[in-house]
Amino acid sequence: MRSVIDILDLSVEELEGLIQTSLDIIQRPAEYSELCRGKKLATLFFEPSTRTRMSFEAAMYELGGNVISMSSAASSSAAKGESVADTARVVSCYADIIAIRHPKEGAALVASENATVPVINAGDGGHCHPTQTLADLLTIYREKGSFEDLTVGLCGDLKFGRTVHSLINALSRYSGVKFVLISPEELKVPSYVKRDVLKQKGIPYVQTTSLEDAIPELDILYMTRVQRERFFNEEDYLRLKDSYILTPDKLRGAKEDMSILHPLPRVNEISVAIDKDPRACYFKQVLNGKYMRMALMRLLLKEAGTL
Ligand code: CP
Repeated sequence: MRSVIDILDLSVEELEGLIQTSLDIIQRPAEYSELCRGKKLATLFFEPSTRTRMSFEAAMYELGGNVISMSSAASSSAAKGESVADTARVVSCYADIIAIRHPKEGAALVASENATVPVINAGDGGHCHPTQTLADLLTIYREKGSFEDLTVGLCGDLKFGRTVHSLINALSRYSGVKFVLISPEELKVPSYVKRDVLKQKGIPYVQTTSLEDAIPELDILYMTRVQRERFFNEEDYLRLKDSYILTPDKLRGAKEDMSILHPLPRVNEISVAIDKDPRACYFKQVLNGKYMRMALMRLLLKEAGTL
């Protein structure tokens, strides 16, 4: 049974196919509105979410299907000690496809190994978040027309930010991509990502603590929130939380066509004064996420023989 746990579970050709399907959904939504009639998505969210859960659910409704939902661990039998493996087996009896978010790295993989329907990782701890990357890729594609020859700045919590790890993996497959990794010393990209992805593939990257120094060369600036929920102590979080705040002043040195992305939620990383700047793409990114989740569920349900 085909599941998507990591962005690398999708080939470059499949990513291109998902982008083209999403663009077609945007152009011709009526063609897709009955595709999943009679099918059910189960959303199993053991961690808080607004965008990912609601966009999966909106995506299934727009495909003509239905949704059953578990919106918190506290309201499910996980609170009584039921394992992720058993939960996945059980929910497979009720749904045709599962989207799962869990605070533990690897939980989505365990779910996929025990489910009898496709499983999509909607975020596992600080590990990865492949469908956020699909939203990011469609946004970059719609803004830039290609993924090649881009200088991409990733800024903020690059240690715990799972969206960053998935995006590095995805963009490292395109030629001419360079990364500028902007973070405090304590929140650098984990060494396993640098070793297994950037160094292994020979992708050029620099690490810096200065957003101001980095900004003039960037085609994409991907801001991230400091992930409070993954810190071991509040004192460190409070010290680091406002390390980078993008303001109109800081944008002065940026390219006129630099795109500003953020997976959201933002806390304080992007001043609301930036929202009207034509370079701000983070609310477009939210909508793009829904189209890509529609395209992904269509792909996995077709492969499972359900559609
Ligand atoms: N970007 C993202 O994953 O947002 P939510 O936590 O609201 O789902």
